Amino acid sequence: MKAMTLSANGGPDVFVLRDTPEPEIKPDQILVKVQAVALNPIDCKIRKTGAFGYGSGAILGFDVAGSVEQVGSLVHNFQPGDAVFYCPDFSGPGANAQYHAVRADIVAKKPAHLGYVEAAAVPLTALTAWASLIEQGDLRLGQTVLIIGASGGVGSMAVQLAHAAGAYVFAVCSAANAGLVRSLGADRVIDRQSEDFAAVVQKEAGTVDLVFDCFGDIYTSRSIPIVKPMGRIITIVDPKGDLSLGYRHNIAIHYVSLAFDSIPRRIDGMKKITALLEREILKPVVHNVLPLEKLADAHRALEAGGGFGKIVLTVSH
Ligand SMILES: NC(=O)c1ccc[n+]([C@@H]2O[C@H](COP(=O)([O-])OP(=O)(O)OC[C@H]3O[C@@H](n4cnc5c(N)ncnc54)[C@H](OP(=O)(O)O)[C@@H]3O)[C@@H](O)[C@H]2O)c1
Repeated sequence: MKAMTLSANGGPDVFVLRDTPEPEIKPDQILVKVQAVALNPIDCKIRKTGAFGYGSGAILGFDVAGSVEQVGSLVHNFQPGDAVFYCPDFSGPGANAQYHAVRADIVAKKPAHLGYVEAAAVPLTALTAWASLIEQGDLRLGQTVLIIGASGGVGSMAVQLAHAAGAYVFAVCSAANAGLVRSLGADRVIDRQSEDFAAVVQKEAGTVDLVFDCFGDIYTSRSIPIVKPMGRIITIVDPKGDLSLGYRHNIAIHYVSLAFDSIPRRIDGMKKITALLEREILKPVVHNVLPLEKLADAHRALEAGGGFGKIVLTVSH
């Protein structure tokens, strides 16, 4: 099969299109004929650093949609031809290839109204937003949430989930993406370049119940004064700055990591996300579609920033 492999860890030009053997499946796995793979910042971090052990020869790509080609002897809930989507973990090869082997229990059937490109744009970011806002963040009807990095892959899912949960949504992003973030359900979009997000929240709401930080840097520490006592801050990126005020304000600060999530939570998360997609409460946000052979260009575009939603690679057979 054709696959985009790493020749080394480094810049976007390290990808090489190679003929590699098709994966052999284990009894609890399915073989997927890959149709579309979405790009995530974690792919860029792994490409650069070799994180999780992905070095020369490795295949990345961790947001997948395709059709079932073959099922393992212990798999009873899929059959060849089923259209599926999933987020594989970082313990094996990714799916920047024509075929991918994956444990069947973390795979969900693709909602019929979505194409492969749209379906691939969802799992990793939606699972992260679900685990952060709903499971760890316990966001409830009528609460107020502040989402930082609201136009990104995770943020665009989080805005939709928070809106659907009945929360009032403050969303921080660049002015260029403000209209799109508003269209996803944000009540008040804060322009990160011309407004002080903490001052806006303080003036308009006083405090929020929950902050979801999808950017990191100083946003988590700067958010502490605008969170209610006993409120929560969830971050998915390493925060910088002094977090000690959080103790004195009785605020819980959590780091959510999909990489270390449990399999039962991953399975449950995919069920919830599939149901939300089927009811069109959650919608994929696709920024750009490129053929898999243009993977280096896709990495460059993601690293340049400025986009809204996902970059998706299509795989030809
Ligand atoms: N822990 C986990 O399990 C987990 C899971 C998924 C992702 N992540 C991490 O979470 C981060 C976000 O992921 P993603 O997929 O949403 O990334 P993304 O699609 O690249 O989005 C990042 C967003 O950050 C915004 N941004 C850029 N510069 C900014 C600045 N100076 N201040 C505030 N916002 C800025 C950009 O929007 P605007 O220009 O419109 O502001 C952009 O849309 C990444 O670092 C990723 O690796 C962690």
